[in-house]
Amino acid sequence: AGRCVVAVDGPSGSGKSTVSRRLASLVDASYLDTGAMYRAITWAVLRSAVDPHDAESVAKVAGETDLEIGVDPQAYSVSVDGTIVDREIRGPEVTGAVSAVSAVPAVRALLVAMQRDIIATAGRIVVEGRDIGSVVAPDAELKVYLTASADARAQRRSTEYATDLTATAADLARRDKFDSTRTADPLRQADDAVVLDTTELGIDEVVTQLRSLLDSRV
Ligand code: C5P
Repeated sequence: AGRCVVAVDGPSGSGKSTVSRRLASLVDASYLDTGAMYRAITWAVLRSAVDPHDAESVAKVAGETDLEIGVDPQAYSVSVDGTIVDREIRGPEVTGAVSAVSAVPAVRALLVAMQRDIIATAGRIVVEGRDIGSVVAPDAELKVYLTASADARAQRRSTEYATDLTATAADLARRDKFDSTRTADPLRQADDAVVLDTTELGIDEVVTQLRSLLDSRV
């Protein structure tokens, strides 16, 4: 089969990861979690004891970091300088600092270039993030923007990460605000994206809808 890129964007807790991985498995495509890449660079920044708000030092760490990420939807893994950091990048330290790190233009330039290379190599791939349809792959065959109510998103994240609901809701609100108002590639709906509100939809329903959309496009 030829090239087929599906861009899945949206805020945290909109169901992006689960839906993207399932869709990729279902249509036998690769899968790229770009959030995991920003998290891995953030982990490297914290490891170097660099202040996440010090853009110049953050850019320097990012440039010196050897980041690797797998594209198997069932078993992808992220490593930094040879160390697997799959678990560490989901912890509260990284989650608390990732918005600041991902707002640094040099970090974005580096990761967007890497993402484009991975997409070009994979050919058939589902890519999830914040700026995939708008910046990374504006020529994607299908662009999806997933949303859900703030309550539903906080509920999902706190279940997924086993964190306190109130704290999770506050953290999500903070990251949403930061991610949508930053100057470098803010979270934004591509003009030609299909918008799906998943508040009342189960994962299976969302995946089924995306699959039929995809079938009608390619
Ligand atoms: O999707 P996830 O919650 O793992 O993303 C973590 C953070 O990485 C987001 O809050 C955002 O700041 C950043 N990010 C980004 N651009 C992407 C993916 C993630 O800025 N394409």
